[in-house]
Amino acid sequence: MAVVGRPRRSCLAVPGSSVKMLGKAQGLPADQVFLDLEDAVAPLAKADARKNVVAALNEGDWAGKTRAVRVNDLTTPWTYRDVIDVVEGAGANLDCVMLPKVQDAVQVQWLDLTLTQLEKTLGLQVGRIGIEAQIENAAGLVNVDAIAASPRVETIVFGPADFMASINMRSLAVGGLIPDYPGDPYHYILMRILMAARMHDKQAIDGPFLQIRDVDAFREAAKRSAALGFDGKWVLHPGQIDAANEVYSPDQADYDHAELILDAYEHYTSAAGGMLGAVMLGDEMIDEASRKMALVIAAKGRAAGM
Ligand code: GLV
Ligand code: MG
Repeated sequence: MAVVGRPRRSCLAVPGSSVKMLGKAQGLPADQVFLDLEDAVAPLAKADARKNVVAALNEGDWAGKTRAVRVNDLTTPWTYRDVIDVVEGAGANLDCVMLPKVQDAVQVQWLDLTLTQLEKTLGLQVGRIGIEAQIENAAGLVNVDAIAASPRVETIVFGPADFMASINMRSLAVGGLIPDYPGDPYHYILMRILMAARMHDKQAIDGPFLQIRDVDAFREAAKRSAALGFDGKWVLHPGQIDAANEVYSPDQADYDHAELILDAYEHYTSAAGGMLGAVMLGDEMIDEASRKMALVIAAKGRAAGM
């Protein structure tokens, strides 16, 4: 089944402490914005950042973007106040809460129950605010299947910087390859996240690439997770947005071919009165599995407006 969900090819990080960036982000072509209360905001600035985020959600023009707020993780004293202030203040103008450094399903259940309480009290439809679960440590990865199972979780998000620190990975190149390692150091982690997400029909989002001026290197990193099936990637700078939107959409030739496979399979199998499973499209044999593969590409292309 093709997982579609909200658009998230490019997920723009916007520090909640910067009124200027909260304003600027509204005019940028990112599919999603996440207004950050966590690591981009200093401890002493957290209280003001909550107020800025509520004001930006209520008064800003987010024009079709997916709107998320990243709260602080549950080992800090800030999480409950982040959730309550943001949802009480702007719950009707918020699509998702992003929970960082998730370690097990209980943490997601806490957020799910808290959101349900808030939605009931505020008269919002129960379940309308989704959860994005960031996997940023070994515990989160080991428990990712159970984390992805919560009905409120819309997407699993890889957090490479915290993850690399948590497993003692000997590199400072967040999101990039490591010269001493002869492969892709993230391959296992990305696939593990992708399997958990897909087992529950959820999206999977790749994390940040910190060398923000090197858009070519960003594009190469994005291509690796896009090729596996990831739905999008974080962007830390406006210069990365177009590259993400392009890389996580199918290229035109693949999209056209997918639509051709769908049309041809439908045409030839119905012409044969439903008695043929495999048919020829030019020199290519296509069957039910080809139809499913084509559906994935076609769904991503249609969602991207191709
Ligand atoms: C993102 O939160 C990361 O840690 O990479
Ligand atoms: Mg992190």
